[in-house]
Amino acid sequence: MGAPDEAGSRPFRLGVLISGSGSNLQSIIDRLHKGAAAADAGAGDDARAIEVSLVISDNVSAYGLKRAQNNGIPTAVFPMDDYADRVQHDLAMADELEKHGVDLVVLAGYMLIVTPAFLERFPQAVINLHPSLLPAFPGGTPIEDTMDYGARVTGVTVHFVDAGTDTGPIILQEAVEIKYNDTVESLRERIHAVEHRLLPRAIELISEGRVSFDEANPRFVIIS
Ligand code: GAR
Repeated sequence: MGAPDEAGSRPFRLGVLISGSGSNLQSIIDRLHKGAAAADAGAGDDARAIEVSLVISDNVSAYGLKRAQNNGIPTAVFPMDDYADRVQHDLAMADELEKHGVDLVVLAGYMLIVTPAFLERFPQAVINLHPSLLPAFPGGTPIEDTMDYGARVTGVTVHFVDAGTDTGPIILQEAVEIKYNDTVESLRERIHAVEHRLLPRAIELISEGRVSFDEANPRFVIIS
């Protein structure tokens, strides 16, 4: 992970991976991209310029690609079917991200599992957003699974990505109450509202060098 002072005044560069609508990409653009952080009342003295340098999708019709293009952000599409296997696919993505000099890879509604070969290229610098309070309800349909279970509280997790599915060290979490008359859609809407705050906050903390690992327990992330 690029330390804040390592590169002087160079912006902290993000590569954002999406598969669909990209509302979380939009929140990153609105809150952080190219000086938005400085204008944000919450930005501290340590604030460093943040730039979305590249948006990647596995899905050519993802609306998030348009959101990027509307903001002049380069995009690239890597459909899984174009590659012999997941490793070849991920290595091609890693090459493109490296070309853009990204400091942090953000999975923001990216629905494929990234391979260990990809993670090795960006050590401790790939984060994921997940719409549940992990370790509860990992996987591809967490909001539906939470409601089917009858849980009363769910939430949002931002975590580092490791070789497992939704198992990496947790950076930030926030709870969301489930109401008795919630539908999947009404709950998704409240979860999205939290996601749109929490993911930019985690990125900002990392860009400021305020996120580290407890040496005694590498699962525990320290926020200073
Ligand atoms: C978000 O709710 C994100 O947490 C979820 O996909 C949605 C993408 O929304 N990610 C996962 O479920 C990953 N397992 P968006 O495209 O509007 O940002």
